[in-house]
Amino acid sequence: MADALKDALQHAASIVETAIRDAVGGQPGIPEAMMYAVCGGKSLRGFLVLEGARLHGVEVQTAAPVAGAIEAMHAYSLIHDDLPCMDNDDMRRGKPTVHLKWNEATAVLTGDALQALAFELIMQGNITPKAKIVLAHMLAINAGERGMVGGQAADIAAEAADEPLTLLKVNSLQAKKTGALIEWACAAGPRIACADEMPMLQYGRSLGQAFQISDDILDVTGDADAVGKAVGKDIAAGKATFVSLLGLDGAKSRAVELVDEACDALAIYREGAATLRAAARFVLNRTH
Ligand code: IPE
Ligand code: IPE
Ligand code: MG
Ligand code: MG
Ligand code: MG
Repeated sequence: MADALKDALQHAASIVETAIRDAVGGQPGIPEAMMYAVCGGKSLRGFLVLEGARLHGVEVQTAAPVAGAIEAMHAYSLIHDDLPCMDNDDMRRGKPTVHLKWNEATAVLTGDALQALAFELIMQGNITPKAKIVLAHMLAINAGERGMVGGQAADIAAEAADEPLTLLKVNSLQAKKTGALIEWACAAGPRIACADEMPMLQYGRSLGQAFQISDDILDVTGDADAVGKAVGKDIAAGKATFVSLLGLDGAKSRAVELVDEACDALAIYREGAATLRAAARFVLNRTH
């Protein structure tokens, strides 16, 4: 990974952790489980918020709670995704999943609390009331049934379907399940600045698809210690993915096309978007 991107991701992780700890504390029980779930990830979505904000002249302190909000929402989605009634996973970010470290009730409630926290963080930020309304409204849509939750439901339903999903259906499932939160993260910077969100939204749309394809590729080719979660689970569970439909090479070529599209969408920002382009290329070569 390029050094500038590595530094930017680490910086985003520390900004996100501080924003969430300031709001949550870390006392035993749900707050401790919230911090446990939030820490240890790549912080890609938080980075996308901060980088989009920087490109539009928004200060880091102003964007920090918004970066915290999307990482809180993402951490909630992962806690619930790992539950026995969903993907039934034991490992997340190289640590035992929340339902194993604590118990299922704690995992459900910790996810619920992180989802609510995402909206609290947006509301508490030092941004205009108009931007807060747009961010909160779009987060409700992108995280809910028309977004991440709807995609997760389609993902689970596909496991039991008689026929494999078509490529078009997998595309739409993934755009909701993974794309919706990534798109929101990308559009947040221009939204805070009340600027044109289209270039970042287009970048996010392509990046989100490429990101889930690379997650599906890693499930086949990755090393569990490096990725920090179990691998080889998608085929075993009968998941519908680009890899199951196009094979590894086909899925990789599609990811390359999408990353090119993502980079093209940033043309208007010229060299200012170099780290965002590096993030898109990282998606192609990532090992975690
Ligand atoms: C994992 O997301 C879940 C998907 C949407 C594919 P990440 O790969 O960004 O997970 P963390 O946040 O780094 O743990
Ligand atoms: C989950 O997709 C995406 C979410 C909405 C959490 P996966 O089930 O493929 O994510 P991993 O592989 O468990 O991280
Ligand atoms: Mg899943
Ligand atoms: Mg999963
Ligand atoms: Mg996966």
